[in-house]
Amino acid sequence: MAKLQSSLLFLFLLLLLTPTQQQQKQPQPHEAEHDDPISRFQNYLRINTAHPTPDYASAVSYLRSQAQSIGLEAQTLEFSPNKPLLLLTWRGSDPSLPSILFNSHLDSVPAEPSKWAHPPFSAVRTPDGNIFARGAQDDKCVGMQYLEAIRGLRAKNVRPIRTVHVSYVPDEEIGGFEGAAKFAASEEFRGLNVGFALDEGQASPGEEFRVFYADRSPWHVVITARGTPGHGSRLYDNSAMENLMRSVEIMSRFRESQFDVVKAGRAANSEVVSVNPVYLKAGIPSPTGFVMNMQPSEAEAGFDIRLPPTVDPDLVRKRIAEEWAPAWRNMTYKIHEKGPLRDYLGRPLMTLTDDSNPWWSVFKEAIAAVGGKLAKPEILPSTTDARYLRQLGIPVIGFSPMTNTPILLHDHNEFLKDTVYLKGIEVYESIISTLSSFQDASH
Ligand SMILES: *[C@@H]1O[C@H](CO)[C@@H](O)[C@H](O)[C@H]1NC(C)=O
Ligand SMILES: [Zn+2]
Repeated sequence: MAKLQSSLLFLFLLLLLTPTQQQQKQPQPHEAEHDDPISRFQNYLRINTAHPTPDYASAVSYLRSQAQSIGLEAQTLEFSPNKPLLLLTWRGSDPSLPSILFNSHLDSVPAEPSKWAHPPFSAVRTPDGNIFARGAQDDKCVGMQYLEAIRGLRAKNVRPIRTVHVSYVPDEEIGGFEGAAKFAASEEFRGLNVGFALDEGQASPGEEFRVFYADRSPWHVVITARGTPGHGSRLYDNSAMENLMRSVEIMSRFRESQFDVVKAGRAANSEVVSVNPVYLKAGIPSPTGFVMNMQPSEAEAGFDIRLPPTVDPDLVRKRIAEEWAPAWRNMTYKIHEKGPLRDYLGRPLMTLTDDSNPWWSVFKEAIAAVGGKLAKPEILPSTTDARYLRQLGIPVIGFSPMTNTPILLHDHNEFLKDTVYLKGIEVYESIISTLSSFQDASH
């Protein structure tokens, strides 16, 4: 009897306790069971900063709390409403020397959850160590690695000579016009006296770290042809469609000539001018589609054009005006330049990667010190915020330390392996300690 009573009591207690225990086991979005580099990275990844509605406020507040736990100075700047930019500072012992800046962006491109093996904002770590999340490679990895490296160096009582700044900027994925562009143009930025900066790069499928010394600059070009309209049965010269198609043929030939150089292995994709048609607009709409017996008086085509810094933009402008959309063929054009092409002295936006650039030499040393190998420096095929800093004449290297990693930025199932992430922290510890103790009177 006593035995039965006590088992009933036990059952009763179990019933009482079970629900609360289950509640406690539910992981909270930004609360980790452990506090270690991987869980802190996962917490950052779980904040949904994807466009079109990036949660900048939560990301900034999370990073601020991290900075506080490390003991860094933090300030939130706002150059556009609801687009905060977080700036962290680790003061050096000689503030008269130019500082070093480590930049990353808070936002990411959207994700289509149905195409993912794991929810894109869950930051699931699989048994083989892959952490799945939008932003895992682009570029929340580097954002957190900078912080972890500083945390590690402070724990070892390292004291920088140069001041180290870490910036987290909004809007990179939509051009950076309200983020890095405004930051770079600000009084606050000038006050930082930045001598050298690192920004995001790309994963490397091989053993070598990839480094980027320039971006390509995007142009959106729209060409429009006008001509006499006419019956669909008539043959006559210089219709809008004929004039537009002539231009498309000429542009296609140019595209082929550039692509041939790449196919022959004489240049990388990012070293040539790419010209890709992205839309065609013509015809007179009808309820069932288009009026078929009428030749329209206007036709338009849009192109995504990317210029490497090695190409003279004036020559491309001349080509557009004289060959691709010449006025004598009754064509007009619009060029939307999506960012700067030259620095304030009129020089191409490129960072030197030879020993004439002492920052490059010191950077190379820092990589070698942790047994890393650097691949041949490249031009990035796309665009990053680095261009706004290069525009000011500041040397910037694009670098995301991920070796043996497939390139998954903007792709479904973006992931980063935990061991690769941790190795990256070690690499940044070396970079930050080497660069911040580098003393050269002229830089
Ligand atoms: C340009 O437009 C004018 C006026 O409509 C026309 O006379 C001329 O033939 C057109 N030229 C070309 C090359 O399309
Ligand atoms: Zn990025």
